[in-house]
Amino acid sequence: MKQLYNMRKFFLLTIIVIAAMLTSCAGGKVKYRIGVSQCSDDIWRNKQNAELRMGAYFHDNVELKFAAAYDSDERQVQQIDSLVNDGIDLLIVAPNQVQTISPAIDRAYDKGIPVIVFERKTSSQKYTAFISADNYEMGHVMGEYIVSRLRGQGTVLEIEGLEGSSPAIERHNGFMDAVKDAPGIEVVASLQGDWTEPTAYETTKQWLSENKDVRVDLVFGANDRTAMGARKAFSSLTSYPSPLYCGIDGLPGENGGIQLVRDSLLDASYIYPTHGDQIIELAVSILEGKPYEKETMLMSALVTRDNAKVLLMQGEELMRQADQLDSLHKKADNYLQKLGAQRVINWLALGIIVLFIVVFVLFYLYHLRKIALQRERVVNTLWNLKPSEPTETSEESDGSEASDHTDDNEPVAVSHFITRFKEVIEARLEDSDVSVEDLAADMNLSRVQLYRKVKAISGSSPVELLRTARLNRAYQMLLTTDKSVSEVAYTVGFTAPSYFTKCFKEEYGMVPGDVRK
Ligand code: FRU
Repeated sequence: MKQLYNMRKFFLLTIIVIAAMLTSCAGGKVKYRIGVSQCSDDIWRNKQNAELRMGAYFHDNVELKFAAAYDSDERQVQQIDSLVNDGIDLLIVAPNQVQTISPAIDRAYDKGIPVIVFERKTSSQKYTAFISADNYEMGHVMGEYIVSRLRGQGTVLEIEGLEGSSPAIERHNGFMDAVKDAPGIEVVASLQGDWTEPTAYETTKQWLSENKDVRVDLVFGANDRTAMGARKAFSSLTSYPSPLYCGIDGLPGENGGIQLVRDSLLDASYIYPTHGDQIIELAVSILEGKPYEKETMLMSALVTRDNAKVLLMQGEELMRQADQLDSLHKKADNYLQKLGAQRVINWLALGIIVLFIVVFVLFYLYHLRKIALQRERVVNTLWNLKPSEPTETSEESDGSEASDHTDDNEPVAVSHFITRFKEVIEARLEDSDVSVEDLAADMNLSRVQLYRKVKAISGSSPVELLRTARLNRAYQMLLTTDKSVSEVAYTVGFTAPSYFTKCFKEEYGMVPGDVRK
């Protein structure tokens, strides 16, 4: 029994180990969850998001969660709060405006979440790192370019970026500082834009309708989309001589600033670097406690007709390679997913095999135990009892025929009867033709008397006892001799070995061959 109990313990332990193996291979490495809060959704942001994703590909423990506020302060505040509540490990944020988003950023920072502010500034000092190109410098270089493009003489209409957003303020300041040194350049107006093309279009159109007599030589838009909005407004007034247009962003690709310069829709642009992959590297350094720069200034360059073609080619080549990398990553991802599934299947198969082995071993041990118990039973059968031992059956038998004939010497009489009957049966054991009548005659009793007495003492009929005796003898012969099963069957009075095997199995729960195992 102890053996069985131990086996059950072993069985349970195996299941626990398999389950642990399965769960451990289903789960992966702990991930760094990085929240990206974008103030807007446009081609510049799309390019940057793609780079952020690409950067994350190089770290298999990084997961990105994106949110775009579509130029709404309230939405961005809500999105930052919900990213923080989702349990991000680091926040990357481009704040829509300097003042309005700061409280949400402060809340994240105060909760111990590292914050990378990129490209647009916040009024708070609560950030871990800042990464951007120099917007003042950009405005200034563009101002200098415009002065030289107009050969120091002409009128400029400026359309600013979103009010209160740091690139808009800095680009304007840089531009103004550059043109104020050129007395021949007049800034006829600085209109308020919001980075979008439709607003620039509407604002310019409105200004044009109110300033029909003012001649404009060049429009400086705070970004390329703004410059293009103004261009549309000027183009809608066919009578108006077309000015030059300059913007900022200088994106590669379809309808990007570089292409617009190459195609002479814009006169110049300035590359506003996106560098999403670099931002991810910075984030991972912070998360892994590696050294990092608190302030990173990204390099940039002016785009003019002279270099637009080359820059476009380079940009497109980079985009092509990025696309390839992307599809390569998707393939690798797919492959890894399949590999993961395969691994789970392998573990499952292994688990099932182990389970089968355990079940088989358990059954085998159970079978061995059963045989051992049967052996014990054979030793303890009524038939093997010493005549002097009182039997349970004889003690319990009352109200039966036996009790009719009992007296104070009953145990002695029973014992004597058993001894005698055993002798009679053993003498006839090998005789396959012996009948109950023969046994009764040998006991000097009638067939009925013998039946009643034997039944009262043992609970079995004489025929059953005879068969038990035959099988018992067969069992001992199987244990102690080399005789074949058939020989044993014939020796103990069975006429057919198959019938012997059947009776043997009924009696001992195993076939004769098992006795020798
Ligand atoms: C993109 C964008 C750019 C601009 C920058 C300023 O969302 O509007 O066009 O250069 O943001 O932050």
